[in-house]
Amino acid sequence: MKLVVAVDKNWGIGNKGELLARVRADLRNFQSLTKGNVVILGSKTLATFPNGKVLKDRTNLVLSRNTDYNPEGAIMVRSLDELFCELKKYDDDSVYVIGGANVYDQLLPYCDTAYVTKFDKGFECDAFFENLDESNAWELVSIGEEQKTNPETDTEPDMSFYFCEYKRIDK
Ligand SMILES: NC(=O)c1ccc[n+]([C@@H]2O[C@H](COP(=O)([O-])OP(=O)(O)OC[C@H]3O[C@@H](n4cnc5c(N)ncnc54)[C@H](OP(=O)(O)O)[C@@H]3O)[C@@H](O)[C@H]2O)c1
Repeated sequence: MKLVVAVDKNWGIGNKGELLARVRADLRNFQSLTKGNVVILGSKTLATFPNGKVLKDRTNLVLSRNTDYNPEGAIMVRSLDELFCELKKYDDDSVYVIGGANVYDQLLPYCDTAYVTKFDKGFECDAFFENLDESNAWELVSIGEEQKTNPETDTEPDMSFYFCEYKRIDK
């Protein structure tokens, strides 16, 4: 399986339950990777989506231990065992882990590709992703051209960012 994440300069990914920045080009990149595919997310990340609704045009596998929590359109999984049982139904290449911090931590060992948007800025963060640049298990295989935020559509008016791809090397 693969993962998609947006990190700041210190591999921070969120603060107070929210994303660090809303950047339209990054959202488009996220959509093009995940549309038509399977996404895995934690209940706290789902809560950050507009009206707490699942992503359309995707199969949403939502992790929560709370059996009373059954958001419309989600396939609920209550443990990693249940998740891996459910995942047998799908092609591994079509499965994307989309957060948050807690879910990335647990599923990173099962991922072979990481699509990482790197924001060229340090934000105040309370949620972090493992620093893949310092990991022996991962290597950076591609880094896209410098992108710039658009002040008309993005929460950060003047920030560079890069679309990067990492591959697992300790298979
Ligand atoms: N930058 C990015 O790309 C990105 C992407 C996504 C999220 N984020 C950020 O990440 C932060 C949220 O991360 P988070 O770590 O607080 O929450 P999270 O990973 O989204 O969700 C954690 C929740 O998932 C459920 N869960 C986790 N492991 C489970 C397991 N093995 N079995 C059953 N349920 C399990 C639990 O839900 P219950 O409590 O319901 O049992 C747990 O409280 C936010 O700031 C968000 O904006 C950033």
